[in-house]
Amino acid sequence: MIKEDFFKNKIGVIGAGNIGRSVILKLLEKGYPYDNIQLSYNGSIFTFSALFDDNLVDMISDNSRLVNDSSIILLSVPPQSFEKIGDFGLDKDTLVISFMAGISIDKIKKQTKSENVVRVIPTGPDTIKNSCAIAGTYPGNAAADFLFDLLDFDYYVVDSEDKMDYMVIAGCLPAVYCRVDPHSNESVRDIQRFAGDFDEFIEISKKAEKLVPTDNIDEFVKQVSTPGGVTEAIISSLDQGNSLYDSLLAGIKRNNELS
Ligand SMILES: NC(=O)c1ccc[n+]([C@@H]2O[C@H](COP(=O)([O-])OP(=O)(O)OC[C@H]3O[C@@H](n4cnc5c(N)ncnc54)[C@H](OP(=O)(O)O)[C@@H]3O)[C@@H](O)[C@H]2O)c1
Repeated sequence: MIKEDFFKNKIGVIGAGNIGRSVILKLLEKGYPYDNIQLSYNGSIFTFSALFDDNLVDMISDNSRLVNDSSIILLSVPPQSFEKIGDFGLDKDTLVISFMAGISIDKIKKQTKSENVVRVIPTGPDTIKNSCAIAGTYPGNAAADFLFDLLDFDYYVVDSEDKMDYMVIAGCLPAVYCRVDPHSNESVRDIQRFAGDFDEFIEISKKAEKLVPTDNIDEFVKQVSTPGGVTEAIISSLDQGNSLYDSLLAGIKRNNELS
């Protein structure tokens, strides 16, 4: 695929929160035409203010117009908000790329009517803005992979959707390592336990260590903690004094509750 052809796609971003905005800003930085992107949000005044600051106000649309106009739809609403959007009525070929934790491809296909659904779980919005995001994606898809390359994702195409559960917690590791020392014997042991089910876990964990910021740590953790989401569940378990292993399991449990 060549860039000029890809850039002709109308992209609709449903949920212009932390992840949605960071993706849009990275696309613009890479030269994606402003007029070919629409976005929606849920009316928060804080989000409007952030959109204003980022000069994205002219992209604001509503879900039904955005769904009608777009050939690629990015879903970046909280998992709890997805069902409330209602039926999309898409053509079966419209590419839907979901950033949501927990919500299965099956469920997204049923609600959108698209048969062309890809899931991706990246590390947080700052890592996207800084071109150092690590991501897991399923299944492989040429157009989606083109987009992930454009966004500078270091991505792993996993071989089953179940593995996305591990990728969801792997994506939380930069925030987790703001709270626990990844080099302690306990952490090394706990991370190795997950590698039994997901080979790449140790490699991703090592990369995640490098994504821990040196300052504004609380703000970083806040930005990657979607309210009611998986990172929040892991951090709250760590704050209660549970081990890294048990806290990551709490993250998988929360992911399953959201699905
Ligand atoms: N944050 C991370 O590090 C991270 C990493 C990997 C995956 N994810 C996934 O990415 C998704 C977004 O996370 P986030 O941290 O960006 O959350 P967020 O900052 O809370 O953003 C979610 C956005 O969705 C909007 N929204 C809610 N209901 C909507 C609706 N019906 N129609 C249109 N927009 C709607 C919200 O609008 P308002 O602003 O008006 O409320 C908000 O702007 C989640 O599913 C999460 O699981 C997040």
